Amino acid sequence: MPAPRGPFRHPEAGTSGVFVTGTGTEVGKTVVAAAIARTLAAEGKRVAVFKPAVTGLDDYDDADGTEIDLYRGKSSRRPAVERPDHVLLREAAGSGQTDDEVAPYRYGPPMSPHLAAALAGEEIDPERLREAAQAAAAGADALVCEGVGGLLVPLAPDYLVRDLAADLGLPLVVVASPGLGTINHTLLTVEAARAAGLEIGLIVLTPWPDSPNPIEESNRETIAALASVRVETLPRLDPRDPSSWPALSPPSPK
Ligand SMILES: Nc1ncnc2c1ncn2[C@@H]1O[C@H](COP(=O)(O)OP(=O)(O)OP(=O)(O)O)[C@@H](O)[C@H]1O
Ligand SMILES: [Mg+2]
Repeated sequence: MPAPRGPFRHPEAGTSGVFVTGTGTEVGKTVVAAAIARTLAAEGKRVAVFKPAVTGLDDYDDADGTEIDLYRGKSSRRPAVERPDHVLLREAAGSGQTDDEVAPYRYGPPMSPHLAAALAGEEIDPERLREAAQAAAAGADALVCEGVGGLLVPLAPDYLVRDLAADLGLPLVVVASPGLGTINHTLLTVEAARAAGLEIGLIVLTPWPDSPNPIEESNRETIAALASVRVETLPRLDPRDPSSWPALSPPSPK
């Protein structure tokens, strides 16, 4: 199995972190990444966050005043209380990063980043992503990186989210749903990660119900057994009240 290529494994780099991916889009990656970032920050660590590309900014209302220039004149399918991923991650980490430092590529249309970039007349540059991630990590104790969609989503025509995860060399956190269908989706993601030599540190099932049914309980055990990875659960959080969130610790460095 190839060794992680990334700079963050280097002892001198002094930065640890995680790469939060998932079985697909809208599965809970931001919630999980935010919970991990907040947990680390609450331990007194300086936490930086990173998201290679944010798409779908057209969906956000601008009434809460964040980044109004990005949203002006756009549709408002999400209420103003909801914030884009890079804003939520930054708040959870308590980092003073700029939008560009957290998410160097940001687009309005809700679509795969390679397509959103193409429609904007550009291509996402892997080298710029690697440099931006390293710059975000510089001076931080931990870097919490959220992917885009699932592992095989293209950032550029020949550069997948999985390639970035490999380049950064951070252990993966795989986010998945608790219910029916999740065994297959989760194990496919685990296999795709391992095929590229990526280390999976943790699987998180979210949102975990207060009273899980037998299928959900069984899914948790089955995934842990078949993937040989620690499985945690995250209950439904109130995104507006981070002080109420339970701690979610990242996998410990190997
Ligand atoms: N533990 C949880 N608490 C509250 N909401 C949750 C939780 N887990 C998932 N969700 C809900 O699931 C939806 C998707 O969550 P989230 O935005 O974190 O997904 P994502 O995987 O980051 O999506 P994207 O691919 O757009 O980045 C949101 O509506 C979110 O509120
Ligand atoms: Mg997200």
